[in-house]
Amino acid sequence: MPPPESIAINAATRLCAVFGSPIRHSASPAMHNAAFAALGLNWRYVACEVDPKNLRAAIEGAKTMNFAGINLTVPHKLLAVDMVDALDASAKKWGAVNTILFNEKGATGFNTDADAIVTSLREDLKVELRGAKVLLLGAGGAGRTAALKLAAENVAELFLVNRTRSKAEEIAAEIKKQFPTVKVSVGHPKSDADLILNATSLGLKADDASPLDEKQFSLKQTRAVYDMIYRPAETKLLAAARVAGCKTANGLGMLLHQGAKAFEIWTGKPAPLDVMRRALVENIYGGAKS
Ligand code: ATR
Repeated sequence: MPPPESIAINAATRLCAVFGSPIRHSASPAMHNAAFAALGLNWRYVACEVDPKNLRAAIEGAKTMNFAGINLTVPHKLLAVDMVDALDASAKKWGAVNTILFNEKGATGFNTDADAIVTSLREDLKVELRGAKVLLLGAGGAGRTAALKLAAENVAELFLVNRTRSKAEEIAAEIKKQFPTVKVSVGHPKSDADLILNATSLGLKADDASPLDEKQFSLKQTRAVYDMIYRPAETKLLAAARVAGCKTANGLGMLLHQGAKAFEIWTGKPAPLDVMRRALVENIYGGAKS
């Protein structure tokens, strides 16, 4: 079926945008514009290169110009917490804003990333998180959100590994305080795990090493591996995991579900998930991966 025609831009067109730096390779415009067209909405979504020092002015500008909403990506998600008029419970809970809704109440910040991680893990890997043993690689912004969300999902044990150990230790301390029933430690598991989750940026570049030190923990010791990276479709970690017989998935599902939730927050309509997934696959892999 050919993609639906979008309604021509006119004086009634509603605008959404993603602010980030760098932003040139964002797939979000393709995903959201396909969804607007599929639902016959006279809306458009653009990508704006916004330097962190101008983020407050950019958010104010979008609000003043009556944008419907915006997404925020690297490096804006933490900064924006102090730049909105109100925080939804999701943004308060995860301490980061990736979606803003503009309406008569002003700018309200949401976080749609945390739920998207879990939705994608369940959908793409069919892992049961409650009671699971998880090795999480990375303790940056994405790693922190993933660690807290996994703890909130009642995983049994969480092992945190990061190049800068102190950042993993900080997250472990936070989890001990907020989720005392979850066993959290810094370092690799001594026995098998149910899932390895990569939240580092290692794998984005072709010559990057694998984020997993296989001398410390073998891929044979886990059933499933998720890489938040979706470009390339198969990182070195995922390729090795596939060869080792693990179930694998990349971060496309996470990108999809955070976008779908943002779409619903802005439009009040159910997101057309299939349309959005197809648009992402086409935009990122040129339609080569279904
Ligand atoms: P994001 O918001 O995507 O999480 P980030 O906060 O910059 O981005 O975090 C990047 C993550 O990748 C961190 O865990 C980082 O490790 P450090 O905390 O030690 O910086 C990890 N990372 C980036 N480059 C790395 C490398 N060359 N080797 C190992 N880990 C790396």
